[in-house]
Amino acid sequence: MDYQQAINQNYHQDNLIRTIEHALEKSGKEITALTREDLRFFDEFHIGGRAATRELGRLARLAPGTRLLDIGCGIGGPARTLAAEFGCQVTGVELVESYYQAAVALTGWVGMSAQVQFQLGSAADLPFEDNSFDVLWSQHLIMNIADKPALFQEMRRVLRPGGRLALYEGFAGPLSPPHYPVPWAASPSISFLTDQDSLRQMLADAGFQEEQWHDLTDASLDWFEKMIASQTARSADGPPLLGLHLLLGPTAGQRMANVRRNLTENRLGIVQAILRG
Ligand SMILES: C[S@@+](CC[C@H](N)C(=O)[O-])C[C@H]1O[C@@H](n2cnc3c(N)ncnc32)[C@H](O)[C@@H]1O
Repeated sequence: MDYQQAINQNYHQDNLIRTIEHALEKSGKEITALTREDLRFFDEFHIGGRAATRELGRLARLAPGTRLLDIGCGIGGPARTLAAEFGCQVTGVELVESYYQAAVALTGWVGMSAQVQFQLGSAADLPFEDNSFDVLWSQHLIMNIADKPALFQEMRRVLRPGGRLALYEGFAGPLSPPHYPVPWAASPSISFLTDQDSLRQMLADAGFQEEQWHDLTDASLDWFEKMIASQTARSADGPPLLGLHLLLGPTAGQRMANVRRNLTENRLGIVQAILRG
C-alpha cells in the first residue's frame, strides 16, 4: 500500500458529508440555518479544539487580509475560525478527498465560501506558486510526514519572504514507541514522530527563525481530562451525536484514549511555535 492509500485508509470515512448532516439534524440543527457554533464539537481535529486555534492565531499576530494557507486542513474548522475571527483570507489544502469535500460542504453551509477556499493536494507538493502566502498554518499534520526537511523546504517556497509559520504539532517524547492506534495513524506505518530538539534543528536548517516555542504537553493533558469530563456529562442521555467520532469512525474512543495515555507516559509531546521564514 502506498502512502496516499495508507493516509486515506486512516482518515477516509464513507458518506462523511451525509453522516455529518444526519448527526446535525438528529441533534436539532437545521442545515439551512447552520452556524460555526453548531460545528464546534467536531470541526477542529486537534487537541484543544477551537481555543487552541484562537491562541495560535493571536501568537501569530494574524490580521485582516492575511493570506493564510492551512496545510492538512481536515474538514476546515480551523480555516473557518481564522477567517471568521481574524479576518484572514484562508486557503486549505487537504490530501483526503472525503475530508476535502466535507470542508467545502460545511463552509458552504455556514455561508463562508467567499472567505475560505479549499484545494485537494499534498503537503509534499503544494499546488501553489512561490511566495503565495503571508502565513502558513500546520496543526497536527507533521506526525504524518516522513520527510520533514523536504516539507519545510516546500513550505519556504510558498511562504513570502519574512512570512510566518504557525505550528501546533506532536513530537516524540523520551519514551517510545507510542501506543497505537492514535487519531493520525492506526499503526506505525504512517506515524513519524521526531523529538523536539531534532524538529527545531530541521526547521532551523530549512531557514526558519524561531520566534516562539512553547511545550504544551502538560496543558494538552489538562485539556484531555476536561474534555473527558465534559463528554461524560454530555453523554448522560447516551453517546453524544456530535464529536470527533464522526471523523474517526468506530475506533475513535480507543484512539483518543491512546493520545491521553501517550501524553501521560511521555511517549508524545505537543508544541506550539511561531517561526519566521
Ligand atoms: C489530525 S488531522 C488535523 C486536521 C486539521 N489540521 C485540524 O487541526 O483540524 C491531520 C490532517 O492532515 C491531513 N494530511 C495528512 N498527511 C497529509 C499530506 N501529506 N498532505 C496534506 N494533508 C495531509 C490528513 O488527511 C488530516 O486531515
